Amino acid sequence: MKRRLISLFMAVMVATCSMTGCGVKTSQKENTESGYGSGDVLSEKKVGVCIYQFADDFMTLFRDELKDRLVEKGISEDNIEILDSLNNHNTQVEQVKELINDGVDVLIVNPVNPSFAKEITDLAVGAGIPLVYVNREPDGDEEDRWVDNDYHVSYVGCDARQSGTYQGEIIEALGFDTVDLNGDGKLQYYMIEGDPENIDSQYRTEYSVRTLKDSAWKLECVGDEVGNWHQETARQLMAKFLEEDKDIEVVFCNNDAMALGALEAIEADGKVVGQDIFLVGVDALEEVIGCVLEGRITGTVFNDYISQSHSAADTAINYIKMEKVEHYVGCHYVKVTTKNAQEILDKIKK
Ligand code: GAL
Repeated sequence: MKRRLISLFMAVMVATCSMTGCGVKTSQKENTESGYGSGDVLSEKKVGVCIYQFADDFMTLFRDELKDRLVEKGISEDNIEILDSLNNHNTQVEQVKELINDGVDVLIVNPVNPSFAKEITDLAVGAGIPLVYVNREPDGDEEDRWVDNDYHVSYVGCDARQSGTYQGEIIEALGFDTVDLNGDGKLQYYMIEGDPENIDSQYRTEYSVRTLKDSAWKLECVGDEVGNWHQETARQLMAKFLEEDKDIEVVFCNNDAMALGALEAIEADGKVVGQDIFLVGVDALEEVIGCVLEGRITGTVFNDYISQSHSAADTAINYIKMEKVEHYVGCHYVKVTTKNAQEILDKIKK
């Protein structure tokens, strides 16, 4: 598929004065002579960041790590502007315009709605500002446009299909007889989705279940609700479902915040994970890894915010430095169970 080929395609940066709004030609010459990226020069560059919303556990980890990496690489903290798009596409578009007017040298955008990425790309390209999308992948047609037109636009993130597959595999590894608690030959599962418009939600919902079906497990969906990535929403959904007292064996949550909400409701109902029910999430938040180690959550999938935010910062800086940049920078998820939970915990606590 063309989109996958993007990962192999290299865009070579071309210096234009309008690109940074501050005389790149001169800077490029100076930089070549003095070793560009030696803190001093890079520290004068401005980075504008829009996060789809600050009220999101995973994106908070990502955002803090991104800022640290930019600073570590030589961008001055005063020149990094990070805005909360409040989960509103129009707000985000206005913020992108503001950042462009402020003369940022590069944009990093976590789109509110990746299906409308074209509007943001056009603003950045029109202003000659390189753009790095993170976490929420724009669709294939949009990515093809960057390649076809040699736009200075990239995406950094993981393929959410892998996280869904890993959730399915964590359950599969327990063995059907262990998970089929009521012994009816079918797995009763409940799905709590993130934002249904979001590709991560769609793929995790689809691939978690598909993995088990592909292994010839019989499944029965006893409920599929939208928790919007949010802990308290998931807690309420789970509590409501448990009140109905239907058979349920596995709860799939599209992220860990929602798994924590589901866990609260499960424990309030007197159920024990691992005995009465199985529960999986995605992200590997520190609290969830702790629960995995205690056996209170069956497993999760590490959404490596460290490597993703570092790649995003490095990609943005490579654009500033006019170095070669890939249009697609991927990363891998990691399955987390009791076997490797401590290892992942040590990694994120470093
Ligand atoms: C996912 C993450 C979720 C949420 C979402 C926002 O990758 O697993 O917890 O942060 O991104 O788009």
